[in-house]
Amino acid sequence: MRFTDATFAGSFPDYEKAPKTGLSEIAFGGRSNVGKSSLLNSLLKRKELARISKTPGKTRLLNFFVLSDKEGKPLACFVDLPGFGYAKVSAAERKSWQSMVERYIEKSSLLKGFLLLIDSRRGVQEEEHQLVEYLLHQGKMVCPVLTKSDKLNRSQKADVVKKTTEILGPFGENVNYPILHSSKDGMGNDLIWRWMNERINDES
Ligand code: GTP
Ligand code: MG
Repeated sequence: MRFTDATFAGSFPDYEKAPKTGLSEIAFGGRSNVGKSSLLNSLLKRKELARISKTPGKTRLLNFFVLSDKEGKPLACFVDLPGFGYAKVSAAERKSWQSMVERYIEKSSLLKGFLLLIDSRRGVQEEEHQLVEYLLHQGKMVCPVLTKSDKLNRSQKADVVKKTTEILGPFGENVNYPILHSSKDGMGNDLIWRWMNERINDES
């Protein structure tokens, strides 16, 4: 995909309320503060398209971004999802976030790939494992992205890739090999683009 521009298309609590673009979608999901918005900006080489915050829980709605080519023709859509697992919200609020994300995943037939962000210092926890199970059950393709890898040394990087592969490998071919990423220097962006392009061009 040769995008030249990306614009914020709006925040919506419900997939039904989002504009019907008919474009293929790639979702960015994972724990709160894991680096979803930073990854989106890094892939698009934009500093502040998606809002980044040191305070977890910044993204509270489904945020849509439309990518377009140099003629302005829309190509695809990125969806920045609210994060899960943030302790400082009420149980009711947490439930409403979860159902917002689940409703989106279940309703969007245009969702071609799910980038599951995992903090490279924590690795796969119970929540991520359950989410992969759920996504596969919904027929979605998953790419695990190990974020903030600039905080690890070489052997720690190798270690988290090995452990993640051991845990997620048994899920089979709809879960990609984990990709180490850093929003500081763009490490991993090429591999993630390759995976996304395959998903978007895959008509199945
Ligand atoms: P919520 O929307 O609150 O769920 O957070 P998020 O997952 O969108 O995370 P966000 O991109 O806002 O980043 C959270 C914090 O992690 C910010 O302080 C970022 O600067 C930092 N961060 C994100 N990616 C990286 C990275 O690759 N390396 C480092 N060192 N810090 C990062
Ligand atoms: Mg965010």
